[in-house]
Amino acid sequence: MLAKKPPMGFNTWNTFGENINEEVILQTADKMVELGLRDAGYEYLVIDDCWSEHVRDKITGKIVPDHIKFPHGMKYVSDYVHAKGLKFGMYSDCGVYTCAGYPASFDHELLDAQTFAEYGADYLKYDNGYRPTTANGRTLYRRMAMALRNCGRDIVFSACQWGEDEPHTWLRGAGADLYRSTGDIVDTFESMKEIALSQMHKLYAAGPGLWNDTDMLTVGMHGHGNVGGADRGMTDIEYRTEMAIWSFFQAPLMIGCDLRRIDDECLRTLKNPYLLRINQDEDGRPPYIARDNGERAVLFKLLSGNEVAILMLNLTDRAARNPSMFFEDVGIPAAWGKGLRLTDCFTGDVKYCRELIEEEIEPHDCKCYIGTLE
Ligand code: GLA
Repeated sequence: MLAKKPPMGFNTWNTFGENINEEVILQTADKMVELGLRDAGYEYLVIDDCWSEHVRDKITGKIVPDHIKFPHGMKYVSDYVHAKGLKFGMYSDCGVYTCAGYPASFDHELLDAQTFAEYGADYLKYDNGYRPTTANGRTLYRRMAMALRNCGRDIVFSACQWGEDEPHTWLRGAGADLYRSTGDIVDTFESMKEIALSQMHKLYAAGPGLWNDTDMLTVGMHGHGNVGGADRGMTDIEYRTEMAIWSFFQAPLMIGCDLRRIDDECLRTLKNPYLLRINQDEDGRPPYIARDNGERAVLFKLLSGNEVAILMLNLTDRAARNPSMFFEDVGIPAAWGKGLRLTDCFTGDVKYCRELIEEEIEPHDCKCYIGTLE
């Protein structure tokens, strides 16, 4: 199993779109190390769409890196990334073209998998654009899964299937390590919220070996870049809420902001040790909805070592006294005389609660705890 825990890393798409090149990748690799992100667990550096020439090599049939964007080729970039103690990710698509119109892997799966293996790739994001209308979507993903297994290198298979065709029901069997469950994120609270709510009742499907990919994080973008959304992007509180939701969902944590410009607050959010512990928990048990209030849902998650985690959301535009969570509902009857000792994941403050937890939560904010039964 290649993805025992949700992959963590960086992906170029959110900020750079087609404006990628060797310099950007090398600088990002440097920043992942300098900012302590590699040591916090962010290990994959993934190059998304727009990295190649518009036509394959006429003799070998291979996809060729854009010679202006990547003048030393992809192995050079991959070697640099590896020398930094990071892992290297590539991008292709199951159709005839990638979403941005570059050559994709339909009918070239094995050759492309071998090419990515030659580059030293450790991860492949495999998109869903421009599928031939005659082709069965499931078969196209099965093909690349088989090609990756036969390319001579371990490559994590990130199936970017946009949630079409109930991917959580078949992509584990088809050999994927993660499945994109939604359309593309934009750096606005509305986009993030829509994605979160769309997956709230499907969290049971993700676990070791197949993770629910709710798209790259927008934390730190502040409205800049390729999926910048509104002019200011999200607030620091909203980014924190995004990070908490992705952590509870056990979604891959792929940073999408420009790491050369990230501010301290967002860096703290990305490196929050409690949230990373919840996201990367060894057992990988999905959370469940302990109180189903829609936009004010409360999620409860069992962690390894008998710890638990609680996420209380207020995705509405009004301050809310609820949501509250009754311990009875998560298997802690009042008659036991026990409660939860809870550490606030954002402040580190500790408190003890019995029977229920209730919070006043500001609009778009959340409360998040790790605790033990005592
Ligand atoms: C699709 C994917 C995005 C990104 C773009 C690239 O829209 O969902 O994540 O990879 O293609 O063109």
